[in-house]
Amino acid sequence: MFDLIVKGGFLPDGNVSDIGITGDRITAIEPLGSAEAGQVIDATGDLISPPFVDPHFHMDATLSYGLPRINASGTLLEGIGLWGELKQVMTQDEVVSRALTYCDWAASMGLLAIRSHVDTCDDRLLGVEALLEVRNQVKDYIDLQLVAFPQDGFYRDPKARDNTIRALDMGVDVVGGIPHFERTMADGAASVTELCEIAAARGLQVDMHCDETDDPHSRHIETLAYETQRVGLHGRVAGSHLTSMHSMDNYYVSKLLPLIAEAEINAIPNPLINIVLQGRHDTYPKRRGLTRVKEMLAMGINVGWGQDCVLDPWYSLGTGDMLDVAFMGLHVAQMTSPDEMRTCFDMVTTNNAKTMGLQDYGLHVGAKASLVVLDAGTPVEALRLRAARLHVVANGRVVSQAPRADAALSLPGRPASSRRRHVLG
Ligand code: FE2
Repeated sequence: MFDLIVKGGFLPDGNVSDIGITGDRITAIEPLGSAEAGQVIDATGDLISPPFVDPHFHMDATLSYGLPRINASGTLLEGIGLWGELKQVMTQDEVVSRALTYCDWAASMGLLAIRSHVDTCDDRLLGVEALLEVRNQVKDYIDLQLVAFPQDGFYRDPKARDNTIRALDMGVDVVGGIPHFERTMADGAASVTELCEIAAARGLQVDMHCDETDDPHSRHIETLAYETQRVGLHGRVAGSHLTSMHSMDNYYVSKLLPLIAEAEINAIPNPLINIVLQGRHDTYPKRRGLTRVKEMLAMGINVGWGQDCVLDPWYSLGTGDMLDVAFMGLHVAQMTSPDEMRTCFDMVTTNNAKTMGLQDYGLHVGAKASLVVLDAGTPVEALRLRAARLHVVANGRVVSQAPRADAALSLPGRPASSRRRHVLG
């Protein structure tokens, strides 16, 4: 007797199986015949995936688009300035309310694990208080991991260092940084060193906004790889953005990538935001600003797509759909072969789960009973369609359901409905 059986769906590897769930755990992945269950979901012909995972987001800023004004230039720097204005006037209740609304969207999209940076440059630590409350409120359906993020510079902002440490004392999970925004390259490198030491001393992970610039001489990722090894944080550090690598000298990159690989640094490109914010100082040819995704994957580096922003000072669109994120990444990185497209799906599921260090993630017996049933037959079809999330299960409970995307047709001599799903060959 199971609490829930998901019957007959395609697993991401193409096999067909039933999934039996007891409590908050997957307890069987095998043909379950006429086994009894409290609830049955018929997933025949549909794709069953582990939940989507976003390793890079800003939940303290989300859904604030237009407050107190719109980013007129569309640049990263105006966005940072605008966020500084908003921080002066926003209230904790407003941040909690917007974040909870975003979490509703996320759950409906099957996005059940999120790593959010939270600004630690506000003396009140209002965003930290707010997101700690949100983390607690959504814990039954979303794994929310918080990063202490000194947006205005760990050293450049005179109070950021103390406030970042206070935020960690309050229970923020991960140590953040922004070395390319410090006053000098030397300050940036020093910030990487100190922040890695803080993380090592506290047994925490590190996730830095690193080299989010078109400047090919922004090389803080080199220091991050070095310090990761020096303090023994292998596999527990992420470099977010890494956009300067797009513009770096090829010879230098050929030395850099093995250093990133041996430090087991996780890379988080954010394609929607990188393609919008980078290259803004260029005329033509205009750089695209995305880091070297295929080259890092070929080196064995764990790379996963992040979302970064939804309706905030830096980005005026977004829905919380990681298939949108992967779709954009696939295009900008030109990952168009069948294997590469399939990898793009892994980059918003399993690769990101590895970056976040999620325990018991995936579709296997003993794992958390969290999964998504998609209106698609394969991971690549899910990407092509940004397929409807028919059923979302979080820790054994159905938390969201949505209809298929079929349209009713009234065309002479044609079928009554149009299905966008298509079996290749
Ligand atoms: Fe970010």
